[in-house]
Amino acid sequence: MEFYEAVKTRRTVREFAEKPVPEAAVRRALAAGLAAPSNAHLKSWQFILLRDREKRDQAVVDRLKARDMSDPAAIERFLERFDQEELKRVYRRSLPRQQSMMLEAPELLLVCYRTKPLADCRTWFELNPLASAWMCIENIMLALAAEGLFGCTYTPYDASALKMFLGIPGDYEIAAVIPFGYPLEPPGRAKSEDLEARIHVDSWERRVAAGPL
Ligand SMILES: Cc1cc2nc3c(=O)[nH]c(=O)nc-3n(C[C@H](O)[C@H](O)[C@H](O)COP(=O)(O)O)c2cc1C
Repeated sequence: MEFYEAVKTRRTVREFAEKPVPEAAVRRALAAGLAAPSNAHLKSWQFILLRDREKRDQAVVDRLKARDMSDPAAIERFLERFDQEELKRVYRRSLPRQQSMMLEAPELLLVCYRTKPLADCRTWFELNPLASAWMCIENIMLALAAEGLFGCTYTPYDASALKMFLGIPGDYEIAAVIPFGYPLEPPGRAKSEDLEARIHVDSWERRVAAGPL
């Protein structure tokens, strides 16, 4: 698939077809992840594929404590704290699938990265290992899209119990837990963004006339 087509095709998907993912496609996507740039060229990433169903259930339900919020009234109560409509729209779609997407997906991938403890980071610069992990993750998501595969980058609020359960060393963190597979329904295209509203030249104030795309 052509690069820009893969970029446009990638969407977050939380419902999957019951169709196994070819091992070669998984390997290609992880190899694309490993090709990402990283701070000091460390590529301090490890990938865990949670394929044992019983272990996956325990990891997601008991350790991660991921829950589906399926009562619409409870969702609306939760959303009262936000005023951005876009955010509410995303949450209405995602909250009912936070657990089930991970239990039902043909594959569940954990992207781990080595870092020092958050309490020891005093500058944004020191968060570069996390930034690098997300470069890796986006390469994976784009590669999956090019394969016709989709998923969701779930970010654990507290992954400590899951780390212990899976024997992840103390100096590693989990950047994202990614259920993926073939989508149950073809994902739609994202609405187009206003690029011009984001471009500044030479200073924050300086806007430019719309250019060619
Ligand atoms: C850093 C990051 C964290 C995210 N965390 C979650 C999450 O915990 N649960 C979830 O369902 N989606 C999560 N998402 C997916 C976003 O909700 C999704 O990317 C967004 O709604 C835009 O949709 P799109 O990916 O189809 O363009 C996360 C995405 C990013 C980049």
